[in-house]
Amino acid sequence: MTVETVSTNPVEGQKPGTSGLRKKTRVFMQPGYLENFVQSVFNAIGGARGKTFVVGGDGRFFNREAIQTILKMAAANGAKRVIVGQNGLLSTPAASHLIRLNETDGGLILSASHNPGGIDEDFGVKFNTPNGGPAPEGVTNAIFEQTTKIDEYAILDAPEIDLAIIGAHMLGNLDVDVVDPVSDYRALMESLFDFDAIRALFASGFTMRFDAMHAITGPYAASVLENALGAPEGTVLNGVPLEDFGGGHPDPNPVWAKPLMDTMMSDTAPDFGAASDGDGDRNMIVGRGLYVTPSDSLAVLAANAHLAPGYTDGLAGVARSMPTSGASDRVAAKLGIASFETPTGWKFFGNLLDAGKATICGEESAGTGSDHVREKDGLWAVLLWLNILAARKDSVAEIMVDHWATYGRNYYSRHDYEAVPTDAANTLMSDLRAKLSDLPGQSFAELTVEAADEFSYRDPVDDSLSENQGLRIWYEGGSRAVLRLSGTGTEGATLRVYLEQYAPQGADHFQDAQVALAAVRDATAEVSRMQTLLDRTSPDVVT
Ligand code: G1P
Ligand code: ZN
Repeated sequence: MTVETVSTNPVEGQKPGTSGLRKKTRVFMQPGYLENFVQSVFNAIGGARGKTFVVGGDGRFFNREAIQTILKMAAANGAKRVIVGQNGLLSTPAASHLIRLNETDGGLILSASHNPGGIDEDFGVKFNTPNGGPAPEGVTNAIFEQTTKIDEYAILDAPEIDLAIIGAHMLGNLDVDVVDPVSDYRALMESLFDFDAIRALFASGFTMRFDAMHAITGPYAASVLENALGAPEGTVLNGVPLEDFGGGHPDPNPVWAKPLMDTMMSDTAPDFGAASDGDGDRNMIVGRGLYVTPSDSLAVLAANAHLAPGYTDGLAGVARSMPTSGASDRVAAKLGIASFETPTGWKFFGNLLDAGKATICGEESAGTGSDHVREKDGLWAVLLWLNILAARKDSVAEIMVDHWATYGRNYYSRHDYEAVPTDAANTLMSDLRAKLSDLPGQSFAELTVEAADEFSYRDPVDDSLSENQGLRIWYEGGSRAVLRLSGTGTEGATLRVYLEQYAPQGADHFQDAQVALAAVRDATAEVSRMQTLLDRTSPDVVT
């Protein structure tokens, strides 16, 4: 086995975004592409010598090959130990947990999250720091800088490791520990939730469907829900992870998890439905006949978390991304705890969690989590819901009706305009930005603008400033629109329009959300000149 030093040249565009480097799979498969990025990560953190890393991915196409390459590069760069999930599998939250549990120097997670997988679909690599969370901007900038000047990478010329075999392997001088991907994670869940109460709930005849969408959470959900908690076999649907997710789009929302939605809206719906995404960090919650928006789910979890053993002492604070609805702020205010509003992307929660300022965090894009790891965690959210259902002995619908009666309802929806020409999207944003300060007092469609600004965030822990994080418009009558461009799309630009309308206590809480949001939608279409600039009449995806 020899270390090879391979000459290389920088590849344009290896700039990690909100969730690492995400590209078409064929781009990653080009000779030297993955290698350049991985070497740049090692260079950016002062080398890999003597260090320990966690490596695993969501099992999508190219996962196995990429892991073998990373192991050989870790060995050639002098790393001491790599902990890798059996068959190269680790959900994102489980990887975050292993990084923390083993006090490692970080980890590499291979995933393009909820994007489809396959040779013509998407792949991604993300570096997480020793706290278990996605690399903050300082680190991703350093990685990017390395990618612009890289001239060589090191790789061991060695046979592949058999990742099916749990236990200790050697690769040159590198210890490779192949571990069961589920067991440490399951133990963590057992420490946070009342498994006895949830077991009793299932034993009493409570029914559930968990759609793993042929992605990474299949083995986790089967082990926790069906084995540990006694849910009947068949509770977990699409539980076998596939390289192409069965051709599906593993994004747990009413559009992509439509079969589950249809089941939950039917006459034979079970009591509770849930789904998770490609790498297991997102979740969807749906009751019999009722979809719970991620923003509402965050608020309900914050209001009821004390019912679970891991959170009996209450929460330090609740954090949400700026475009997420204000529902959780109302809970925090009532509980007398802090609430935080951060830019989009889980990495912005890391400092708040590390500093003990926030306990529970969430994003409108179906991410919810707590300080138990430093990633959002799909199955965690499902288990906290189950714990709450078991403790309250109410249905999902009863819990929601009660929640809205107490706090009012923040009607909420996100409209995505996908694969729009980048120029047109940029023009829309810059035109709107330029006129923001003139908007207050002007009317669009039937609404008058009350205030408008561009969101920037000063991190309360490290004082760093993140600018240009989305355009916000508040209208009279309690509605808000946010416009921002996606940082994770891989084709053209994706414009996200986030719509919210508050209906206070005592108002009508049972309208269709799109009906309740029609006025703010129309006003925002007009003010942004969407029709003229994008030539789009309706969004591609409504969640
Ligand atoms: C999207 C979501 C964001 C999430 C990110 C990673 O990013 O909107 O909340 O953190 O995926 O899962 P976007 O494409 O909007 O930049
Ligand atoms: Zn994900």
